Amino acid sequence: MRILSAASECAPFIKTGGLADVVSALPVALAAEGAEMRVLLPAYPALAGLAAKGETALSLRKLHGGPARVVAARAEGLDLLLLDAPHLFDRPGNPYLAPDGKDWPDNHLRFGALSAIAAKIAREGVGDWRPDVLHAHDWQAGLVPAYLKLGAGASPPSLITIHNIAFQGVFPADVLTLLDLPKSAFTIGGVEYYGNVSFLKAGLVYADRITTVSPTYARELTAPEFGMGLEGVIAARRTDVRGILNGVDLDVWNPETDKALVETYSAGKPKNRRGNRAALAERFGLDLKKDTPLFCVISRLTRQKGLDLLLECLPRLLGRGARLAVLGSGDKDLESAFAAAAKAHPGRIGVVIGYDEALSHLLQGGSDVIVIPSRFEPCGLTQLYGLRYGCLPLVGRTGGLADTVIDANEAAIADGVATGFQFAPIAAAPLGDAIDRACDAYANRTIWKSMMRRAMRSDVGWDRSAAAYYALYQELTGMRPEDRAEEETR
Ligand code: ADP
Ligand code: GLC
Repeated sequence: MRILSAASECAPFIKTGGLADVVSALPVALAAEGAEMRVLLPAYPALAGLAAKGETALSLRKLHGGPARVVAARAEGLDLLLLDAPHLFDRPGNPYLAPDGKDWPDNHLRFGALSAIAAKIAREGVGDWRPDVLHAHDWQAGLVPAYLKLGAGASPPSLITIHNIAFQGVFPADVLTLLDLPKSAFTIGGVEYYGNVSFLKAGLVYADRITTVSPTYARELTAPEFGMGLEGVIAARRTDVRGILNGVDLDVWNPETDKALVETYSAGKPKNRRGNRAALAERFGLDLKKDTPLFCVISRLTRQKGLDLLLECLPRLLGRGARLAVLGSGDKDLESAFAAAAKAHPGRIGVVIGYDEALSHLLQGGSDVIVIPSRFEPCGLTQLYGLRYGCLPLVGRTGGLADTVIDANEAAIADGVATGFQFAPIAAAPLGDAIDRACDAYANRTIWKSMMRRAMRSDVGWDRSAAAYYALYQELTGMRPEDRAEEETR
């Protein structure tokens, strides 16, 4: 089984969030199933060195205003296909945003190009490698299924994974011709979205299957408060939608070997976490107490993540003698609110504004609780890392958070199955109650140790989910092309 994965991010090369972790972990997980996945990515500056050394697999004289080529390269255990088009991708920093913090004005051309090339490779292959299935991720690859379905001739089946429906890639109608899409596709049953063109809708309409990254989010997406305008499109394709949980790369996230930790440790001997806790005290300027927990946040600071609710709960958290370490970046008002909180409570709240991969590992390895009060969360990875590192997740009951954390209610504690704390509805008062419950549990060393052990032994790897994706690819390749055409008109 050969699969072409098309995406705009891939760790460790280019990452703004969990998408990058998933795109790089999936090929490794699928290899264990006997599948061969190659990842098509734009050759941003972080990948330019690799592109310069790699082998040209495809050349185009002109792709949306400049020459382009596809370079095959191998790095970090991944088979990459790099779309080297300097006029589109030789831009430093965030892959989507210009230095002024706004979207690049030609994002439709940049990711339209990525999608067009993915479709070309899916149909024609590169060298003697021809994929059996095309797997697109998020709006940036949303046009691939459209190019495959709307173009002439045979094409392999496709699936699209929704990592976050908040980002939809919506552009004015005139991009249709710029992107070589037929005018006939500009309908409510096609790529049209309130008079504009939506890349994500295109993917949802034309892909043979739709997946998202947890079963609960798959259900939530058909409701207006979660579907963000696309709930009807998803509901119409209900029978083709699946929720498959993300996993964790168990080599990258391994407290027994993690080089970013001051001290490594295992579920059998979690005591060594103390060294990491002490390192965090120094790094965040915190006066940590032995008998009260250290809460942490590792997050994009956006409305999705609900961290404004945590700001409201700070008096309650501090009232319990607990401490808070925050690592994050994003919305300026949230950045300054957390910075102000740290200033107002020196020694009790520490904040690092920025993106720091190594520090995120240390936080998981030394904090006691990771707080994730998301308003919606397709899957969420930091709670999975928290489980693996014995940094117990305190989460809003939504999406993948609801599916992966077992709340420490009395029955779960008695049965020894609790791995964290959930709260609902997603609001400040229930979050405050959960913070109280976490402080109470922390005060009982027997309960806490047993929860930590249970959390660290949770199955957060990729095995089950890789098997689910593989089964889905098989289901797709087993379909006859005429079945696919039939489904399309259903
Ligand atoms: P999302 O993709 O919505 O941001 P996820 O929980 O799926 O949420 O993934 C977030 C990823 O980004 C995790 O790997 C997390 O550790 C990482 N991350 C988020 N913010 C930071 C930060 N400021 N520094 C380092 N890593 C971060
Ligand atoms: C998105 C979601 C997050 C998910 C990640 C990877 O960024 O916000 O919940 O874990 O994609 O699928």
